[in-house]
Amino acid sequence: MRIVLGVGGGIAAYKVASLLRLFTEAGHDVTVIPTEAATRFVGVATWEALSGHPVSNSVFDEVHTVNHVRLGHEAELIVVAPATADLLARAASGQANDLLTNTLLMAGGPVLMAPAMHTEMWQHAATQANVETLRSRGVTVLEPASGRLTGADSGPGRLPEPEAIFAAALALAGGAEVPDSPDTPVPGASSQSGAPLAGAAGPLSGLTVTISAGGTREPLDPVRYLGNRSSGKQGVALAAAARDAGARVRLLAAHMDVQAPAGVDVVRVETALELREAALHAAADSDVVIMAAAVADFRPADVSGTKIKKRDDGADPVISLVRNPDILRELVEIRDAAARNQLIVGFAAETGDADGDVLEYAQAKLRRKACDLLVVNQVGKDQVFGQDSNSVVILARSGSEPQEASGSKSDVAAAVIDRVSAELSRAVPPA
Ligand code: C5P
Repeated sequence: MRIVLGVGGGIAAYKVASLLRLFTEAGHDVTVIPTEAATRFVGVATWEALSGHPVSNSVFDEVHTVNHVRLGHEAELIVVAPATADLLARAASGQANDLLTNTLLMAGGPVLMAPAMHTEMWQHAATQANVETLRSRGVTVLEPASGRLTGADSGPGRLPEPEAIFAAALALAGGAEVPDSPDTPVPGASSQSGAPLAGAAGPLSGLTVTISAGGTREPLDPVRYLGNRSSGKQGVALAAAARDAGARVRLLAAHMDVQAPAGVDVVRVETALELREAALHAAADSDVVIMAAAVADFRPADVSGTKIKKRDDGADPVISLVRNPDILRELVEIRDAAARNQLIVGFAAETGDADGDVLEYAQAKLRRKACDLLVVNQVGKDQVFGQDSNSVVILARSGSEPQEASGSKSDVAAAVIDRVSAELSRAVPPA
């Protein structure tokens, strides 16, 4: 993909060198356009060497190629990081006083801006109004992260981590709606607590694990939905096990019959589409993603705004369904496109039939979904769903021997989390 990476004049410009690397290593063609001020923080030579392209911030270079028009026109994605208060203001007011702002006015594809500045500047009414203006025009402006700023001060204003910007950028280019911040509640969802809690010491300490749990509900009308029998017990047990292993845990909770465990950050979702949005968002800075939720494969094509009534003529209503996106598959695609070091685990609730047994179907699913581990259980009316015990087989994409685990759902969760830790310790860290 052809990307323009605009760099604003803030100290966080140095972090954008890593972002550039993530893009180029994933095979994208990146042209860097720093502002004049940005070149005081990171020199043009660095951007040229890392991007493999000449770098300029003047509209008077390469005039014969009509650079100030061509770059924005050809870019399939424009990412601006750090977006300083000045750059946000210039972009919001439509100024075209350097190559980057010209390019932004010519943007043909999606634009993602990742602000970074001091808290007071970010919270200033002028900056907030500029952000509002840009968002109303369809620009995705991420919320800055909170934490230590340039000096001894801290608060909202930090540039989000390069990996998080990278994942958000790819999701945006892929057509996903990218929420402004990992800490922003996903539309239609509610967060039970604030930021994820830091984990205790353990094999997953320092890592962020996102787990989906429960069953999605797909509305038909204001009172009815299509749902499934998932209780959320296995997902909740996994969240508790990951927390006990030291991870910061985000639980993406669809409908559950059980309480979320203490010490994990909970994002409530209802439908598959809400879960997708929450999952893409959470995955951006997760080391491990476990999709234990029972996601509806289909949703009603139309949701009636009023309760569907019995008709006087006796005709029965017909419900048409449309396919929901396969979230697990999408997470794997984004991870692979980004060449990220992220472990993705799927669940498969299978039943055997005359054409094949549970494991055969599960192996085929593992190939289709291309996740790293697939936890397989056999379901029937009274088996697994809602029960307190479970019996699973863990299949690995690496082809290693299937591993069995059974007992309470907590026992099974502990076995899955042990396996996740083992896989992570085997993984080679990126160069
Ligand atoms: O295809 P199937 O529904 O059997 O796959 C189960 C796995 O895929 C689970 O990990 C589930 O959370 C995930 N899934 C998904 N998006 C869907 C359907 C299932 O992520 N639309």
